[in-house]
Amino acid sequence: MVSAKVDSEADILSNLNINAGDWPSNLVKNLCLLSPDQIELGKMLVEMGQSHLFQQWTDPGVEDNKKKAFFAQVAKLNSSYPGGLASYIKNARELLADSKVGRNPYDGFTPSVPTGEVLSFGDDNFIKYEEAGVKEAQNAAFVLVAGGLGERLGYNGIKVALLAEATTGTCFLQLYIESILALQEGSCRLTQGTFQKDIPFVIMTSDDTHTRTLEVLESNSYFGMKPTQVKLLKQEKVACLDDNDARLALDPHNKYQIQTKPHGHGDVHSLLYSSGLLKVWLYAGLRWVLFFQDTNGLLFKAIPASLGVSATKQYQVNSLAVQRKAKEAMGGITRLTHSDGRSVVINVEYNQLDPLLRAAGHPDGDANCETGYSPFPGNINQLILELGPYIEELTKTGGAIKEFVNPKYKDASKTSFKSSTRLECMMQDYPKTLPPTARVGFTVMDKWLAYAPVKNNPEDASKVPKGNPYHSATSGEMAIYRANSLILIKAGVQVEGPVQQVFNGQEVEVWPRITWKPKWGLTFSEIKIKVRQSCSVSQRSTMVLKGRDIFLEDLSLDGALIINCIDGAEVKVGGSIQNKGWLLERINYKDTSSPEELRIRGFKINKLEQLEQTYSEPGKFILKPQC
Ligand code: UTP
Repeated sequence: MVSAKVDSEADILSNLNINAGDWPSNLVKNLCLLSPDQIELGKMLVEMGQSHLFQQWTDPGVEDNKKKAFFAQVAKLNSSYPGGLASYIKNARELLADSKVGRNPYDGFTPSVPTGEVLSFGDDNFIKYEEAGVKEAQNAAFVLVAGGLGERLGYNGIKVALLAEATTGTCFLQLYIESILALQEGSCRLTQGTFQKDIPFVIMTSDDTHTRTLEVLESNSYFGMKPTQVKLLKQEKVACLDDNDARLALDPHNKYQIQTKPHGHGDVHSLLYSSGLLKVWLYAGLRWVLFFQDTNGLLFKAIPASLGVSATKQYQVNSLAVQRKAKEAMGGITRLTHSDGRSVVINVEYNQLDPLLRAAGHPDGDANCETGYSPFPGNINQLILELGPYIEELTKTGGAIKEFVNPKYKDASKTSFKSSTRLECMMQDYPKTLPPTARVGFTVMDKWLAYAPVKNNPEDASKVPKGNPYHSATSGEMAIYRANSLILIKAGVQVEGPVQQVFNGQEVEVWPRITWKPKWGLTFSEIKIKVRQSCSVSQRSTMVLKGRDIFLEDLSLDGALIINCIDGAEVKVGGSIQNKGWLLERINYKDTSSPEELRIRGFKINKLEQLEQTYSEPGKFILKPQC
């Protein structure tokens, strides 16, 4: 019996031209359990120096289900990486060898300032681009990368379900969807289209976020978007690596499972490519794909003008950027030119930019220019890609993005790691493989308008050195009020300036809590039309505009005003409105009696008194109370 089985194992191996002596005996013993596909995978693992994975395998008949699960995992890791697991291991060896010798990936490259468009909010140029962008929006698809763990934020929910602001209780996902829907409607209106095209919306999730993202969408009726418009693509994790030979790491709690970690947001390109969606979009006549991240409550204020820049300048790649002080901890958009003729416009991390400039003969490194800012704009990782050239490029690369590895070595010999590592990739590295002729540019926006991500937990944010951004739930929310106040000021409203307050150990500017639905204020020119004569808002005020056709006319607000109206109801709001209003009441993030989503920002809203009006019938209405 036994000898017959050994014979058949030997037969299997000889059929595959494998010398049984080259295979780990524990794998040979278990060959009878494996399908031909699994044997092929086993062969690949052995050839790629991964025999250690089978070292602790038991005899057949014991833990067989776990062995099958092991191969199921290997098959998944193999199919979800461009070129398969063998490529992953090969790439890992090369990158680990480079990391060991400290090779600089930018050796031989000279940095220079690329060309792009610098916009100033509200001027004629900005308004022109906004209009062009809104017209173009019906030819766009939006892609949200939302597979990240959010370890720095430490929030128990998924990041897209976190409130962007507590005044209306709108979460990031709702804000994003309502912004896309407002663009969809606004684009149709502006081009006088006869029917509204649905703008596709893709969300890249991961095992850490997928189910909860779907739950948030389903329990909120997709926030008004058609479910068919939304597509979730789940990224897979990649195998962890134990040493410089790229030996795959086993899970410390399960000897039949390879340890895995997230591969980074660069996966979005291969996922989009393999999903087939890009071609569907191309056939449907779309031209643009916009990529954005999970917690930037300001982003959509910058989208219309940036898309307008892409369309007008015909950029194949347009990176959204903000002014950046020299040496500020954000990547700089840089042109890198190699002596061999290669040239790319790419994000260079701030700690690499300064030495690169010094090495290229700029003794001051990354220094401010006459504008008071670094000439290298700060990358905020929101990209607009032209669909046609994007598909062409991905057809060549399969969507693979240049990866990096960041092992934490035990000591200077760089021979062993403190813990397992893995390859990672970033979506903004997409232009690295483009030819020098590719039209790659950037659009610089005012930072207050475009960028306020929520990444850090209260404790870490409170320790951020003075002058640097907190990037916390508190600062993200306050940035929305500030941006809305500044926009209204530019439109001619007298908005009282902010007071300084401290929440969760972070000193922030508190402006009036002004919020509006994206459809109220899609562009600056629209907002200007909706604000008439002499309006004023005091610092302690709250103003919430939930509806498209709300016009502020000679309004003096000192308190809380909430207007809800359906499309088709036009409301003029004016006169003097005064009441006790809504107060920000400080709470400590350690006080578990308050919900986490409020604790994380350090305040709750005490709704003392407000004027709230709802218009649920079409028609023209005037709200003009007199104090
Ligand atoms: P972050 O830099 O915020 O990283 O990602 P993170 O992993 O979410 O958070 P930390 O580092 O653990 O604190 C930027 C964007 O990329 C997405 C995030 O969801 C966020 O929108 N992301 C990140 C992915 O989609 N996949 C990943 O593997 C990593």
